[in-house]
Amino acid sequence: MADKKANIKLDNGESIDLPIYTPTLGKEVIDVAPIASHGHFTFDPGFVATASCESKITFIDGEKGTLLYRGYPIDQLAEKSNFLESSYLLLNGELPTQTEFVAFEKNIKQHTMVHQQINQFFNGFRRDAHPMAVMVGVVGALSAFYHDSLDIKNAEDRMISAYRLIAKMPTIAAMCYKYSIGQPFVCPDNSLNYAENFLNMMFSVPSEPYDINPVLAKAIDRIFILHADHEQNASTSTVRLAGSTGANPFACISSGITALWGPAHGGANEAVLNMLREIGDVSKVGEYVKRARDKNDPFRLMGFGHRVYKNYDPRATVMRETCHEVLSSLDAKEQPLFQLAMELEKIALEDEYFVDKKLYPNVDFYSGLTLSALGIPSNMFTVIFALARTVGWISHWNEMVSQPSFKIGRPRQLYTGSDIRDYQTISKR
Ligand code: CMC
Repeated sequence: MADKKANIKLDNGESIDLPIYTPTLGKEVIDVAPIASHGHFTFDPGFVATASCESKITFIDGEKGTLLYRGYPIDQLAEKSNFLESSYLLLNGELPTQTEFVAFEKNIKQHTMVHQQINQFFNGFRRDAHPMAVMVGVVGALSAFYHDSLDIKNAEDRMISAYRLIAKMPTIAAMCYKYSIGQPFVCPDNSLNYAENFLNMMFSVPSEPYDINPVLAKAIDRIFILHADHEQNASTSTVRLAGSTGANPFACISSGITALWGPAHGGANEAVLNMLREIGDVSKVGEYVKRARDKNDPFRLMGFGHRVYKNYDPRATVMRETCHEVLSSLDAKEQPLFQLAMELEKIALEDEYFVDKKLYPNVDFYSGLTLSALGIPSNMFTVIFALARTVGWISHWNEMVSQPSFKIGRPRQLYTGSDIRDYQTISKR
């Protein structure tokens, strides 16, 4: 696999050859593993220069603003595919034929319900619990209900667990919402498609019919596609690291949900709405942009900037379009919150600081606005992100577990603590 070599020379004269791998797309990767046999480690906090694994699933070129799922550009999938078809692609590596798609959809629909006892599980949570806290707990607990697909060495078991997770996440996400507002849980309706079923479980009530608006169903499906995978981001790397220990897939996905929760990652869409509410009025946008520029002020514009995309986020381009479609369809463009958001977008796109640092609105800026327009409370945004990302997480987990090189992930460290010292009894300290 390595057709080139790099050589490093240390001050002590040691010379180490490092293989260089050429990927299908992207930059060449230097294999630093041989350093370990010479008694050294590399140091790369934040993984800014480290490829943690080999993967065939998703490719990102941050400079060009490219995102590919199994080679297919995200804008083509967002326009022409649907979430379940994209899920099949991520999981299996190829787009399905008609027959394969029908079988896949049937398999997913077969697993949409959750065990009846899971309903009772919710009662252990306070009604005002953050839905992410509930989701972490409930998804982790799935391993206590579905013992029959937990042999991670068995490819069929792994696929059944993947189907279960993809199928049950919308049900669980909607249950988290219904529980928080004190409404009865709504059973999945397998006559609906994936996005419609989710909207139905979120918004229908037993007392009256619920008409699904096709523009909104399309928007939610797009949000799912755009969030389905993003190569080795923090939550996916968490799933991989948890999975590398041999932990079961439900536990691994639960750990991914916790990593996603933070405002620097999946929590950003919720943080966008909180920030807009804090800004409060269009007249204050300038003041907040000034604060974001101030090095001594910890305030950052949520929904702007990205670790990998330094020109633009291709998901944001598609999401922006959907956001405007939804706002128009709901006649919501004139609402103060959305006017404020558009003013913020305009100023930040023109502001020297943001332009120089290449801080563009990211997908979460627009998905937060879209979800808000759909009537979804901001504390549910990251739950919806988790629902969509589950297929990416489980695809990476499955890829990792089936690789011959599968082994526990165990980073090393640069230790800067105390040198060895003797224990002193408490009276002598
Ligand atoms: N507002 C103001 N300044 C910013 C922002 C922002 N949103 N983002 C980065 N900067 C500045 C930062 O202060 C730093 O300035 P300097 O060079 O003077 O020290 C410079 O830009 C580079 O920032 P960084 O923190 O070194 O960049 P990073 O790659 O480590 O961070 C980020 C990326 C996404 C964590 C960051 O841009 C951020 O906090 N954005 C807001 C949160 C957000 O929207 N997150 C969602 C990301 S998209 C969802 C996903 O894919 O998970």
